[in-house]
Amino acid sequence: MSVTSSSVTSYEVRGDIGIIWINNPPVNALSQALRDGIYAAVNAAQDDATKALIMICQGRTFIAGADISEFDKAPTEPSFNKILETIEQSAKPIVAAIHGTALGGGLETALACHYRCAVGTAMVGLPEVKLGLLPGAGGTQRAPRLTGVEAAIKLITSGNLIKAKDAVGLNLIDHIIEGDDLLEGAMAYVQQLLADNAPLRKVRDINIDPASFDPAIFDNSRKQLSRRARGQLAPQRIIDCIEAAATLSFDEGLATEGRLFMDLKDGSQSAAMRHMFFAQREANKIKGLGKETAKRAIKSVAIIGGGTMGGGIAMNFANVGIPVTMLEINDEALQRGLGIIDKNYSMTVKKGKLSEEQKQGCLSLISGTTDYQDLANADLVIEAVFENLEIKQQVFAKLDKVCKPGAILASNTSYQDVNAIAAATKRPEDVIGLHFFSPANIMKLLEIVRADNTSDEVIATSMAVAKAIGKVPVLSGVCFGFIGNRMFSEYGRETQLCLIEGASAEQIDRVMEEYGMAMGPLAVSDLAGIDIGYKVREGLSAEEKGDPRSFCVADALVDLGRLGQKSGAGFYQYDPQTRARISDPEVSALVEAKAAEYGVERRDFTDEEIRDRLLLPLINEGAKILQEGIAQRSGDIDVVYVYGYGFPVYHGGPMQYADHLGLDAVYKKLSALHRESGKDYWQPADLIKTLAESGSSFAKWSQS
Ligand code: 3HC
Ligand code: NAI
Repeated sequence: MSVTSSSVTSYEVRGDIGIIWINNPPVNALSQALRDGIYAAVNAAQDDATKALIMICQGRTFIAGADISEFDKAPTEPSFNKILETIEQSAKPIVAAIHGTALGGGLETALACHYRCAVGTAMVGLPEVKLGLLPGAGGTQRAPRLTGVEAAIKLITSGNLIKAKDAVGLNLIDHIIEGDDLLEGAMAYVQQLLADNAPLRKVRDINIDPASFDPAIFDNSRKQLSRRARGQLAPQRIIDCIEAAATLSFDEGLATEGRLFMDLKDGSQSAAMRHMFFAQREANKIKGLGKETAKRAIKSVAIIGGGTMGGGIAMNFANVGIPVTMLEINDEALQRGLGIIDKNYSMTVKKGKLSEEQKQGCLSLISGTTDYQDLANADLVIEAVFENLEIKQQVFAKLDKVCKPGAILASNTSYQDVNAIAAATKRPEDVIGLHFFSPANIMKLLEIVRADNTSDEVIATSMAVAKAIGKVPVLSGVCFGFIGNRMFSEYGRETQLCLIEGASAEQIDRVMEEYGMAMGPLAVSDLAGIDIGYKVREGLSAEEKGDPRSFCVADALVDLGRLGQKSGAGFYQYDPQTRARISDPEVSALVEAKAAEYGVERRDFTDEEIRDRLLLPLINEGAKILQEGIAQRSGDIDVVYVYGYGFPVYHGGPMQYADHLGLDAVYKKLSALHRESGKDYWQPADLIKTLAESGSSFAKWSQS
């Protein structure tokens, strides 16, 4: 019997139990239609003969949250909170039956129900903070009433998912259903509740005992979060809401939550983080490549070169159970490489993130060799030898001889032409760039570089491999530095020019860290090693190197043996114990001397000037990368910057930041810098000019 149904809900009566079915694929997001459907079903069920209701979802998951794509639309009536109030005030008990993930507004809906049961594999969480938001449908008020204040702070400010069994420990779930049949288990649970005359429990009625938490917890958490989530508004507002839950009435707390949620939703941080949510998912989609594109099975991997990158890359595969063979030039280099991997795993064990047994399991999957014949059966080979085209071509020529047909031959090159590497083989269709970021076992980004002849199958397989090892893949075309490093060269050049023209290292790093970068650019150089850029420049012509004022200080530091943190000093000195960076008058003197040598007149910089000088070239180069088709869409570039370069997620990447500023403003600023400096590289990209003139944005252009 159907009391009420909508396109995304239906109602079924089985005996004396009413079942509200939710069916809004792919993740049962709470769209307006779904909210209305639930509201109508709960209201209608009040008048039928059922004694209790079950809310359950079809498809792969319980409700995974509000529909994020509807956040820019005007609010509708009845409000989400009104619907949850209707659920909570129902005269008959409503039980949420959870499988998959009950997230955000999904968990909030479940918390408005009178009881919650779940299969053991279910996960729950309030991940709104990852979208620059707070749970806006009672989550900050109901969760602490169940879990206690401290656990709620942890749950909501981390946004992490927890397993159903742990959720039982936190009172978020009342009952675990054994076996796979959720509906059958939920029916039995409801019958038991009815037989026990279980009360109509309303979370809103629970009082938080003031003695159950330390009143200092709120200020302490705010301080901690201002360090851990530097610059982010949402974690701070979450604490405000939980404090309201602990100190005000439910309705007052709910009003506070509603007001703060709307502030965040309408602000630029959440807009940027929502953009990132969709951009990351879009980046998985390769234009012109359908889901039906065949993929090759990758069951064994070989790595050529066991240095900084090779070792880290090998760990990625061993971590997911794929055996890896690492090839080095000689036994000594091989043992050194294997030794570093061992040390890296030991550090993870020390931090408690891996057991000794797991470490041994991973190590047993990594073997070493110096003989190319041992790579004959590898499904995927990733080359990570020195950054030199000739050496890479020699390696690929050897791989072409020994590797089985169908093996994917990948290079981790940072800058070299993947077409030239592929040309060293007779199978360019199997050659691709897989550009990992350092440290390769930790950094999430993987640039997948499509050369002229790379086959669709090889691209599709590489995207799947990235997912399997937990990376965030972005497709790039071939150009010097691909998406990330090509843009980063511009950022690096301006950093050095600001330095020599008068800004201090401390000011530059402070400005960019205040903007939200994980580290300022000079601190990054010191961490990565100033010699890396130095070595890259050694292979370039004078023309390719560009303006000597943009690298003379870095070169002089390397010549002085100041390579960065690894040598104890670079643009800064480093405390040997704490690694804290310390300003160094020697560096200031060196910069002044170089400025005099190159005839640079030094002057004071405002913070805004530094921000513009460093961020505008990223945007301008990003625009050129887009117009050349090197990147598929502006969101892909943003994903590269957030996941590979520590760009603040709450600015959403450089292209989203540009859209936020408005391309007209960006165009005007670039034009002014072009006029004042007379340098070609400040000339606004044609795409920026066109989009600025038509009032458009990178995002709109990418969608067209
Ligand atoms: N709204 C709209 N679309 C959503 C969505 C949501 N909440 N969650 C997922 N989707 C879409 C994705 O964009 C993707 O679309 P596509 O196929 O067109 O690219 C599709 O659903 C599948 O998503 P995934 O590729 O991410 O699928 P997975 O199986 O890998 O992951 C998931 C599933 C764990 C549910 C993951 O999608 C996820 O974490 N979703 C977001 C959860 C979330 O943040 N919820 C809170 C929302 S805010 C809120 O509820 C506010 C409230 O407090 C008022
Ligand atoms: P590295 O110098 O630490 O390691 C290179 C290793 O390759 C050495 O152990 C060397 O013995 C080995 N090797 C050299 N020639 C070889 C050959 N013919 N056969 C087998 N092994 C050989 O260099 P690193 O930093 O690991 O870089 C490797 C590649 O990864 C380069 O192309 C680099 O541009 C790229 N890359 C480096 C990043 C970094 O931050 N270090 C980041 C991303 C890419």
